[in-house]
This record gives sequence, C-alpha cells and structure tokens, in this order.
Amino acid sequence: MKVRVAETAGFCFGVKRAVDKVYEQAEKAEGFIYTYGPIIHNEEVVKDLTARGVKVIGSKEELDGLESGTVIIRSHGVSREIQERIEARGLNLVDATCPFVKKIHKIVERESRKGAGIVIIGDAMHPEVEGIRGWCQGDVTVLQTEEEARNFTADSTKKLCLVSQTTFNYNKFHNLVEIISEKGYDIIVLNTICNATEERQTEARRIARESDGMIVIGGRHSSNTRKLFEICKNECENTYYIQTLDDLDVRQLHSMSCVGITAGASTPNNLIEEVLKECQK
Ligand code: F3S
Repeated sequence: MKVRVAETAGFCFGVKRAVDKVYEQAEKAEGFIYTYGPIIHNEEVVKDLTARGVKVIGSKEELDGLESGTVIIRSHGVSREIQERIEARGLNLVDATCPFVKKIHKIVERESRKGAGIVIIGDAMHPEVEGIRGWCQGDVTVLQTEEEARNFTADSTKKLCLVSQTTFNYNKFHNLVEIISEKGYDIIVLNTICNATEERQTEARRIARESDGMIVIGGRHSSNTRKLFEICKNECENTYYIQTLDDLDVRQLHSMSCVGITAGASTPNNLIEEVLKECQK
C-alpha cells in the first residue's frame, strides 16, 4: 500500500514556533512557567505540558496574582494592555505571537496613531482579534458579516484602515471590502490573511482525490480539522476522522492501494508519524 502524508499536515509555522518555545522554557525549568491561554487546542499537547509543570492562565486577574515566573504569549498574540501587565509585574515575558499576527499589531498601531479609524474583518470573540483590537489607539470596528459591513458608518473626515484576522476566508474578506469601498471613504486595505490554512486544505483535497482512503487526524473540537474532513470526504468516500492512532482500524485500509494522511493545525507531528508507521506495517 502506498501512503502519502500531506506536507502541510499539522502545525503551521506560527503554532510550531509557539509550541517549541514552551518546550524550550519547560526544559530550562527556571521557576514557574505559564501560558496565557492554552498554547494550542490539542488535549494531548496541553496534558504533556502540564506534566512538565506548565500552567495555563486565562484571565487578567490570574495574571495579577502571579508573583514570579515566565509567561508565554501564544501565537494568537495579546493586547498591548496584557503585554504591559506582564511586564509591569516583573514577570519574564516570552512572546510567541506569530510574526504574521505581530505584523497586524504594528499596522493598526501605526495607522491608528496617524489618526485612521481601524476596521478588523474577523470574529470579535476570537482571541487573535481581541489582541489586534488592543493595539489600536482610536476608533476600531470589528466586522464579519455582509450585514455588518452594510450597516457600517465612519467619520468621513478620517482615513480608514482595513485589516483581516489571519484565518478569515479570502472570498468573504473580498466581499466585505467591496461593500465598505462603495461607501466612498478614504480607505487603505491590507490583506493580512495567512495562507497556511488554505494551502493545507488545497493539498488535502488533491491527495484525497487521488487516494482510495484518507485519514484526517485532529482533535474532536478542532474546527479546522472538521473542515479538512469535510473537504476530504467530498473527494474520497473512505475518509476517516481520528484523534489518535487508537481510533484507527487499519483493517479498513487493507484492500486499498493508496492511502493519504493529513492533519489539522493543532495536531503534533508525533501523532502523524505514529499513524504513518502503522499504515506502513
Ligand atoms: Fe499559523 Fe501564524 Fe498563519 S499562527 S495560521 S502561520 S498567522
């Protein structure tokens, strides 16, 4: 049986970098280690890090209760206020914000300081968007639906700067930008969408199309893994969604000549390798 693993399976560059930084800090073990929010939505990884003494904190209040230690900011980034709170408490700050997200912080900080109103296209409840919002100095609006874009009004004497959440869908972003452009404001649009998700989906679709069976590895609650599963299932009827090797019934694959493997953005490499090894037996 031929087995193909997608090159884009698993961690994107920003998540890999953040997870590596946490392991690095845990290895050094100089005092308490905290991550501001779970570093990744993967139970196995979070469990493993907990066993190594890494604690997750989730609120400003918890942050204010810390006396010492290292706080790691995850790839989503945080607002300026949170960053300054960590620094003001004299805690050791390790910033693992993805450089693509950091770039958005710099854009909105610069443009809002120059007086522009900021529009963030994305989900207002998402931690990445909360963080971006926290780097704006003046007017800021978060939009994610056509209706919200249609209802949007701004001070017409000011410039408007539009940015996007990194994981926002490109076509939707384009639609919302069109709606806002028609309002006649003086706008600059910066497409800050990261293509890691799209590349992973495109490759999964191609491999699934060419395979007799497809295995998609990822957490139960991972929405990007679910999306990958749907894409693959559309192309290949025999698509299996598993969390770990334990969920895989290899007998299902025996009659197949070509099997593909992909994984969601928060699936660690060792889980992918275990599945690969099992398929190659
Ligand atoms: Fe990942 Fe950074 Fe893109 S965290 S999805 S590489 S913005």
